[in-house]
Amino acid sequence: MPPSASHPFLHLLFLVLLVFPGLGAFAAAVGPRRSILRALDEGNGKPDYAVDLNSSSFDNVLNESPASFAIVEFFAHWCPACRNYKPHYEKVARLFNGPNAVHPGIILMARVDCAKKMNTNLCNKFSVGHYPMLLWGPPHKFTLGGWDSKQEKSEIQSIDDGRTAERLLNWINKRIGSSFSLDDDKFENENTLPWNASDPEQIARAIYDVEEATAQAFDIIVDNKRIRKETRVAFIKFFQLLVAHHPSRRCRKGTAGILVNFDDLWPSDYSNNSREGSLSHMQDGARSFSICGKEVPRGYWIFCRGSRNETRGFSCGLWVLLHSLSVRAGDGEAQQTFITICDFIHNFFMCEECRRHFHEMCSSVSTPFETTRAFVLWLWRSHNKVNERLIKVEKELRTEDPRYPKIIWPPKQLCESCSNSTSNQSGGMMPEWNEDEVFKFLVAYYGSTIISSYKDETITSSRKDESVVDDVITSNHAVAVPVGAALAIALASCTFGALACFWRTQQKNRKYLHQLHSLKNV
Ligand SMILES: *[C@@H]1O[C@H](CO)[C@@H](O)[C@H](O)[C@H]1NC(C)=O
Ligand SMILES: *[C@@H]1O[C@H](CO)[C@@H](O)[C@H](O)[C@H]1NC(C)=O
Ligand SMILES: *[C@@H]1O[C@H](CO)[C@@H](O)[C@H](O)[C@H]1NC(C)=O
Ligand SMILES: *[C@@H]1O[C@H](CO)[C@@H](O)[C@H](O)[C@H]1NC(C)=O
Ligand SMILES: *[C@@H]1O[C@H](CO)[C@@H](O)[C@H](O)[C@H]1NC(C)=O
Ligand SMILES: *[C@@H]1O[C@H](CO)[C@@H](O)[C@H](O)[C@H]1NC(C)=O
Repeated sequence: MPPSASHPFLHLLFLVLLVFPGLGAFAAAVGPRRSILRALDEGNGKPDYAVDLNSSSFDNVLNESPASFAIVEFFAHWCPACRNYKPHYEKVARLFNGPNAVHPGIILMARVDCAKKMNTNLCNKFSVGHYPMLLWGPPHKFTLGGWDSKQEKSEIQSIDDGRTAERLLNWINKRIGSSFSLDDDKFENENTLPWNASDPEQIARAIYDVEEATAQAFDIIVDNKRIRKETRVAFIKFFQLLVAHHPSRRCRKGTAGILVNFDDLWPSDYSNNSREGSLSHMQDGARSFSICGKEVPRGYWIFCRGSRNETRGFSCGLWVLLHSLSVRAGDGEAQQTFITICDFIHNFFMCEECRRHFHEMCSSVSTPFETTRAFVLWLWRSHNKVNERLIKVEKELRTEDPRYPKIIWPPKQLCESCSNSTSNQSGGMMPEWNEDEVFKFLVAYYGSTIISSYKDETITSSRKDESVVDDVITSNHAVAVPVGAALAIALASCTFGALACFWRTQQKNRKYLHQLHSLKNV
């Protein structure tokens, strides 16, 4: 451990947020409106939270949803009972859908108007016999076939008691063992997660935040015209790294698309053309690329949520990304990955102080990394040291997120064997680490657990009977995931960014003991 190293990694992001407190919001605001969920807000008057589906969007939206469950309301626009039901349904949907959802990423609430001709077949497939009719199930199960009340053992089931908002929410709470309330407010709510924190399916969802952060980073770069003659190389190298090792398949695909078109988007005589017109033309060109697919950014965070909206998860997602990259790079790539990440941060974070700190940190490394292990541990160690300092700085400046103070990571409860110290880690005390165990933990955690559930359409259509979630699990030896690792995502965020993660509270309150019976029975 270099004794004098200052640890700007965290500091860096912390400062970014400090100096640009609205950064996350800024990035979210500039992104083109690619998200269906977001598009809903653009209607006149009160926006709908529930997503309107039709036969052409049905499969896509449900397959792409990060939510664990979906509720689909089949209704007819001419039916007065349906019109009266809408406010009830919306009241519940407000909790789960849209960029300001209180409990994002858990339940997708949608509706289908069966009175529209194009949806007739769709409604028939689900044996819609009355309006409104509500069905419940994992989102992708809706796309696999239909539903029939006589069907036994279907993962889709009819919601028999959802006549009012209260009853519907009760039904949901009973179904998944949660304690949602219609009064739940964003950031003010302690009962956020009904999840089983040791369930690999839950951990795998961190990938959605990594995707979101990737998309925001790109938006920020484009909007601030950061790609210049002198930064081209750093950009290209980092994107090459993403193409090879981004944990999300669709981001790998999207970044590859940007690289393929790089010369058209940012010609090498770019700086000569910096008249406003051609610049904005290029911005538009770059923006038309969906770096992680059309549905990203979604405009909300699932794992990476602070208790204040300016501490929302951009840096959290970014950190998880950097760590994922570090564990994925092979021994022979370790040094290059290190340089690439250093250069990227150095060139694309617009904060002088952050840049300086970051540079110091990178410069403090004197011997090239010859193994993945050395690089992974360096990144982890730097974070913890920075974090140790940040715990103090934030306390002084009162910039900490009161609900999610930073901690040294990984905590004992996530990796028993990682340290032999009994010291109180949230006090910022560094325990004695067993680096072999820490390395094993980091690889399992950032390597196999966080991966993309996205599949190419061609693959999806030929393997329709397999659920996306099953795919996540079977392909990743998820049994190796340490108990409580989902919690670790959140804790990692506390550690690795100036933001928070609501799972800490969960853990404290042991709320996660009220849980799903098991997703497998759903
Ligand atoms: C953050 O919260 C403040 C106050 O509630 C609000 O005015 C602001 O628009 C919010 N920003 C975002 C990005 O949601
Ligand atoms: C079906 O839904 C999609 C997505 O909301 C929308 O773009 C499209 O216009 C709809 N089609 C019809 C015929 O309403
Ligand atoms: C949580 O998930 C794990 C892994 O799927 C499972 O072994 C465990 O039984 C679950 N716990 C509860 C309380 O559901
Ligand atoms: C770009 O500008 C430099 C000087 O500003 C000039 O020498 C060079 O010829 C220009 N290149 C192009 C392709 O216009
Ligand atoms: C912790 O482990 C280190 C090395 O593995 C050892 O030197 C030290 O004595 C241990 N401390 C305790 C309290 O067990
Ligand atoms: C950890 O230490 C801090 C101060 O050092 C103290 O305020 C806190 O209560 C301690 N937490 C536990 C769980 O012991």
